[in-house]
Amino acid sequence: MCDLSFLKNYKLEGELLEIYEFPDPILKKVAKEVTVFDDDLIKTIKNMLYTMYNAPGLGLAAPQIGISKRFFVMDIDYDREKITNANGEEETRLSAFNPRVFINPKLSNHTGEIFYEEGCLSVPGIYEKVKRAQSISVVYQDLQGKIQTLEATDLLAICIQHETDHLDGIVFLERLSLMKRKFIKKQFLKERNK
Ligand code: NI
Repeated sequence: MCDLSFLKNYKLEGELLEIYEFPDPILKKVAKEVTVFDDDLIKTIKNMLYTMYNAPGLGLAAPQIGISKRFFVMDIDYDREKITNANGEEETRLSAFNPRVFINPKLSNHTGEIFYEEGCLSVPGIYEKVKRAQSISVVYQDLQGKIQTLEATDLLAICIQHETDHLDGIVFLERLSLMKRKFIKKQFLKERNK
């Protein structure tokens, strides 16, 4: 049996993974179901959490680190505190971790509407208001492959929809109006190529 205690008493450790950025083709692919729940998957999840916290971000989906499989990590609860240390350098201290892992998520019962200014580690520097369902039901598997269900609202629902979109090859820019999308894509690519 795999040791999953790292999720309960999470400690910031792991390896920094490369985050693939828009318009990398891997972000447009529909990811495949996870069928093997083993130590390799756990190792990847650990490194994804570390990479997400280091960024810092609220969520990170497997396609964003170059793996076209249906899973993502998320934490919408942790604290980020900017502190200045003795030699005057600023650093961000993270605490109160609440890491979540969703494998093969299926969303249903989309109800209500909510607008939230979203960002994405694959589209750095861009923040735009996106319309999402205010509440959803999620059926997913945990790291042991056990089926779990969750009713999510507000920020949790928003993040789950954003990350599940990544598994379907959709970056949040695709959720904007056509005009806005064109303008922002152009602006982002211009900045990126500087
Ligand atoms: Ni994203």
